[in-house]
Amino acid sequence: MGVISHDLRSGTKPDRNLALELVRVTESAALAASRWIGRGDKLAADGAAVDAMRLLLDTVPMDGVVVIGEGEKDEAPMLYNGENIGDGSPPVVDIAVDPLEGTTLTARGFGGALAVISLSERGTMFDPGPCVYMEKMAAGSKYADLLDLDVPIGEVIAGIAERKGGDPEDVTLTVLDRDRHEEKAAEIREAGACIRFITDGDVQGALLAVSEDTGIDLLWGIGGTPEGVLAAAAIKCLDGEIIGKLWPRDEDERKAALDAGYDLEKTLTSADLISGDDVFFAATGVTDGDLLDGVRRTSKGYATTESLIMRSRSGTVRKIGARHDRAKLREVTGGRYG
Ligand code: FBP
Repeated sequence: MGVISHDLRSGTKPDRNLALELVRVTESAALAASRWIGRGDKLAADGAAVDAMRLLLDTVPMDGVVVIGEGEKDEAPMLYNGENIGDGSPPVVDIAVDPLEGTTLTARGFGGALAVISLSERGTMFDPGPCVYMEKMAAGSKYADLLDLDVPIGEVIAGIAERKGGDPEDVTLTVLDRDRHEEKAAEIREAGACIRFITDGDVQGALLAVSEDTGIDLLWGIGGTPEGVLAAAAIKCLDGEIIGKLWPRDEDERKAALDAGYDLEKTLTSADLISGDDVFFAATGVTDGDLLDGVRRTSKGYATTESLIMRSRSGTVRKIGARHDRAKLREVTGGRYG
């Protein structure tokens, strides 16, 4: 199948870095979604991002199949799970997309919305099946061995505090602000740590937790499984770790997961979520956030974007700023965005 040649696996020869092509895909999704910032319509924002992402994906030479997409074919006209993308040429890859990570953030004009995509070798991406949510914990490499979903969270916090040479008060977690997290938030406070709640966007939350000097030491929370796989893809390109456990919302979902053979007790590591070792990741800011600037429209008919692109095999992490000529973009995209 020629996913990655032997030569390249042994690292003897540099090859094409697809992340450099993927950035055009996330830029286009971000530019399209940005038209909807603060306009109160998260479905329209998401639809614009999906449409733009799909348009540009056709320009990436690959033999891809969507593993993490917009849902089942009957509910998603584009980027549905199982959709084949690319011209059929190598590499043979799995694709995870979140054209708009933070639909509500965008609709309400809040910071931190991203357009995200990742590729890894075929068969190496975890397919969450019916499992919509997972419990996640993520931190940088210096705390990776302390991550544990089976012990009281106070123990994890105490371990991080000790390694930092400080107290639990010196540890900051980021947690999605959800009613289902109330009990754990009480435990975290009881342990003495600080919490930075986020209204949405736990891919960005995980990236902040694994990155140096962001002020976030640990991500915890029950959030989307697709976002967990995307975060794992990004973390494979950075130093750090994410672990998770599937979290069925009700009995029907539990039964569907068990019938499909999922182990609900198992702690999945980033290696379970993405088992490949040649992972490409790209994200572009839609609204201004702690990780990336959002799309900005300047007075001379330009728009600017900021993107993060990474590859696990080389370990290269790039931030790319781009200036887009909006009139020309409208011309080449048939008025879809610009
Ligand atoms: P959307 O962009 O699909 O709205 O997802 C945003 C998000 O906050 C994710 O980052 C997170 O994993 C998930 O939603 C949490 O789900 P819920 O909003 O149902 O609690």
